[in-house]
Amino acid sequence: MTDRLCVHLDEKPIYDIVLEQSFDRLTEEVQKLGTEKKKLCIVADSNVAPLYLEEVKERLLPVCRQVDTFIFPAGEEQKNLNTVRDLYEALIRKAYDRNDMLVALGGGVTGDLCGFGAATYLRGISFIQIPTTLLSQVDSSIGGKTGVDFDAYKNMVGAFHMPKLVYTNVRTLATLSEEQFISGMGEVVKHGLIKNASYYHWLIDHAEAIMKRDYQICQQMILESNRIKRDVVELDPTEKGDRALLNFGHTLGHAIEKLKEFTMPHGHCVAVGFLAASEISARRGYLTREELNQLRAAMAAFHMPVTVDGVEADDVLEAVKHDKKMDAGTIKFILLKQMGDAYVDRTVSREEMAQGLACVLTDENAPVRQQGE
Ligand code: GLY
Repeated sequence: MTDRLCVHLDEKPIYDIVLEQSFDRLTEEVQKLGTEKKKLCIVADSNVAPLYLEEVKERLLPVCRQVDTFIFPAGEEQKNLNTVRDLYEALIRKAYDRNDMLVALGGGVTGDLCGFGAATYLRGISFIQIPTTLLSQVDSSIGGKTGVDFDAYKNMVGAFHMPKLVYTNVRTLATLSEEQFISGMGEVVKHGLIKNASYYHWLIDHAEAIMKRDYQICQQMILESNRIKRDVVELDPTEKGDRALLNFGHTLGHAIEKLKEFTMPHGHCVAVGFLAASEISARRGYLTREELNQLRAAMAAFHMPVTVDGVEADDVLEAVKHDKKMDAGTIKFILLKQMGDAYVDRTVSREEMAQGLACVLTDENAPVRQQGE
C-alpha cells in the first residue's frame, strides 16, 4: 500500500513523501515532476550502488532523457567538499544545466552531500531523495537540510534546499546492519518523545515487530515519524524557532559523538543524549521516575545503549560550548515538559548537564570538575 504526505511551505505544496514496499511506483512518481527532457544523475555510495542502483536506473530511464551515475566511496569521511568537487566535475563533464536533476540514492551522507551539490551547482538545481537507511527515511531526507563536514566540524557547510520528492522503499531496511537499524530507531523514539506520547507508546507496544523489521509496521512507523517531522519543518523550515525541538538529545549526543571520533553511530549518541536530557527534565519535576524507567526499558527493547564508556563528563561539557546549537552564547537545550511535549530551554546549567551525564557515562569516568578548576 502506498502512503503519501505532502510537505507545504507558506501553505504551498512543495514536495511529496511517498512510502512504498518496492520501487514499483518510482517511475510514475518521478514522471509527475515533468522529467521527460531532463538528464538525471543518480548519486550513490559504493555500498548502496551494488544493491539498488541498477533497479533505480531502470525505473528512471523511461521518464527522462538520460540517466548518469556518480558513485563515491562509502563513509562519513567522504562527506566533504572534495567529494562535492568531484560531483561538480562529473556534472560539468556531462554538461548538466539548470533543468537537470540529481537523485540521492542512499543514507544520510549521500542525501546531505547530493542535496548540497544540488543546492549549489549552477546556483541550485532540483533533486530527489531515495533514502535507503532508517535514519535517512525518518530524519535526514525530510526538511531540506543539506551539507557536508568541514575539517573536524560536522555539517559545518550547508544550505537549506528542498527536494522535489522523497521516495522511500521500506524494503530497503532489509539490507541494513542491526547497528544501522538501531541508530535510526534513536531518531524514531525521539519523535515520539518530543511530539506525540501515544506514538511513543505505540512504538513500545510494537517493539518486537519493529525489531523484526515487519514491513507493514515499519511503514506505519516511518509514516508517523515523517508526519511529526513534516509538521515541525513546515512551521519553521529554517530553524528560527521550534525546528530546534528535533535536536532533542543532540546537544550532549553530538558532543559524545565527537569525543568518540564518530565511531559510535549517530542515533546511538542521540539516544544516550536524550536519556541524559530526560534525567534533567525529571530533576526539574517534569517527568516522573517511573517515566524515566519506562524510557530505559523502551531503549533496551530497541537495543539502544543507555550508557557510554571512555568519555569524560568535563570533555563533553567543553565540547558542548563549541556546538552549532549555541545561540548568542547560550545553549538551546531541549527538555521535555512531559512525555510527547518538548520545549527549548536556555537556562540549563553546567551542573544540570553534569547530572544528566552522570546517568549515562559509566563509572570509569573522572568526577566532574567545577567550573574554573
Ligand atoms: N535533523 C534535524 C533537522 O532536520 O532539523
